[in-house]
Amino acid sequence: MCGIVGYTGNKAALPILIGGLKKLEYRGYDSAGIAIGGPSAFILRRCKGKVSALDKLVSSEKINGKTGLGHTRWATHGQPSEENAHPHTDCRGRIVVVHNGIIENYIALRKKLKAKKHKFRSETDTEIIPHLIEEKLKKEKNLLKAVRKAIADIRGSYALGIMSSDEPGTIIAARKDTPLIIGLGKNENFIASDIPAILKHTRDIILLDDMETAVIKPDSVAVFDSAGRTVKKKISRIRWNPSMAEREGYRHFMLKEIFEQPRAIQDTLRGKLNPAKGYIHLEDIGLTVPYVKKIRKIFIVACGTAYHAGMVGKFLIEKMLGIPCETDIASEFRYRSPVMNKSDLFIIISQSGETADTLAALRMAKKRGLKTLSICNVIGSSAARETNGMIFTHAGPEIGVASTKAFTTQLIALYLLTLYLGRIRGAIPRQEAVRIMTAILNIPQQIRLILRKSKAIAKTARKYSKKRDFLYIGRNLNYPIALEGALKLKEISYIHAEGYAAGEMKHGPIALIDKDMPIVAIATAGGVYEKLLSNVQEARARNGIIIAVANTGDKNISKSASDVLCVPVTLEELSPLLNVIPLQLLSYYIALYRRCDIDQPRNLAKSVVVE
Ligand code: F6R
Repeated sequence: MCGIVGYTGNKAALPILIGGLKKLEYRGYDSAGIAIGGPSAFILRRCKGKVSALDKLVSSEKINGKTGLGHTRWATHGQPSEENAHPHTDCRGRIVVVHNGIIENYIALRKKLKAKKHKFRSETDTEIIPHLIEEKLKKEKNLLKAVRKAIADIRGSYALGIMSSDEPGTIIAARKDTPLIIGLGKNENFIASDIPAILKHTRDIILLDDMETAVIKPDSVAVFDSAGRTVKKKISRIRWNPSMAEREGYRHFMLKEIFEQPRAIQDTLRGKLNPAKGYIHLEDIGLTVPYVKKIRKIFIVACGTAYHAGMVGKFLIEKMLGIPCETDIASEFRYRSPVMNKSDLFIIISQSGETADTLAALRMAKKRGLKTLSICNVIGSSAARETNGMIFTHAGPEIGVASTKAFTTQLIALYLLTLYLGRIRGAIPRQEAVRIMTAILNIPQQIRLILRKSKAIAKTARKYSKKRDFLYIGRNLNYPIALEGALKLKEISYIHAEGYAAGEMKHGPIALIDKDMPIVAIATAGGVYEKLLSNVQEARARNGIIIAVANTGDKNISKSASDVLCVPVTLEELSPLLNVIPLQLLSYYIALYRRCDIDQPRNLAKSVVVE
């Protein structure tokens, strides 16, 4: 996720771009840049770090150009650095491009362009775009046509802002699977990834749709469909106040991030699965085939929510690969004496990539000579830099302290890894891999179905928002989800909540159950469904209040449960991905009814960089 802003009009573009970028920093802030039309060539300024660093860089300069593009970056391809910061240019610096998204076939395109003598200066996927346009302009005289020909060669997602020094005052915009809006002013127009960037200047916007392109000039905006036909677009008037706009109208970042999960999962999967061939593209994590075949044991180490993802990983790895796997809490792992061998694979999971205990455990494994892998949401983070390979979760910046979209994308990374290792080792037959991949690709849509029922979940939340204690129970793959549900509730609502393996209830915790105790039971279809139902009966017999997470249409569970939070049916292996969604929403709404500070709960920090 990156932020884009563009301006063309009769005012100096620089302060408008810098102001807009500051509003988009929630989308990423590892480097920033601007390109502004000058008398003969573009003035290009880029730097590593936040928009404030860019602001400082240009503060002493007189840059008066009235058309420009700006970008704040969240690294996906290439480290945060000046060279990798946008805008990127063609060989001659006459075309500038800002991009948000992922170009899947950039390696092949880069190779082709290099063969045609194009000079690349960054490691980004984006840089192929200005070069591709430069190439197309050899045959096309008009920038829009060249852009349309270039994007026809691209596979992936993009929101693009493009300028050429041959067409001063014009910005070309294009979009596929990544948001881009056009803001309409008087003798001035804007583009942006999101409303806050331009809200100070205009409230009239056009939402660009997938496969549309637009030509934006100070006094006109023309939008075209994929065939080049003019499209008449609706103008929407935005009534949000500026702080609502940053949250895209959601009341809290946490809620926004819960609703972003289908997109985040799609981005994490993008270009990785090929169900037609039963193939998983994960070669870039740097595990060679001979090494993969020799892995004897896998360690997964993480903290908090990331640890719960790691627990699901253990179930997957042991069940689907038959490789022993130990998942541990980093702060425990680093102070015990784990038996590690050089042929073991060591994986850390971390949203921030900066959690002190997780990094300490990683360094311990490195000292013992293990190969290391990170599942991480921040490209230039310590975790990413210090491991041999990385699976990048494309969740985008997570601002709410309670982790939601990072968790589900961490799970996706673990599914990808398991499938990848399983295919290489021959542990997962092709047909089975295809079956799982097909079901994974269906997950974003199934999450959308759950999200559509959020009002019903809010109703359940309201009923129980005054309770003092909660129990969460699950078994097998969904035991970690019970832990995660309980963690979400306690951290944002301050209600005491415990997650338990359902079969463990009789060994102590059942004593807690009385008529005031809600028990959230994860009871979706699978090998332990009936056993879970028996655990629910036991809780019911002690007058416990049952809130079940169950498959839509399950009649058995509705006999025992006071409330049922429905999820669609998927493969048992994938059920954690769906089951966690209603639990996130339940916690969110309970905290909302208790008037808690949801995005910044007391005593917590987003990134725990101290032990
Ligand atoms: C809970 C939560 C924390 C983090 C934990 C690890 O909602 O956010 O438990 O999961 O602090 O953080 P990362 O993933 O950044 O290492």
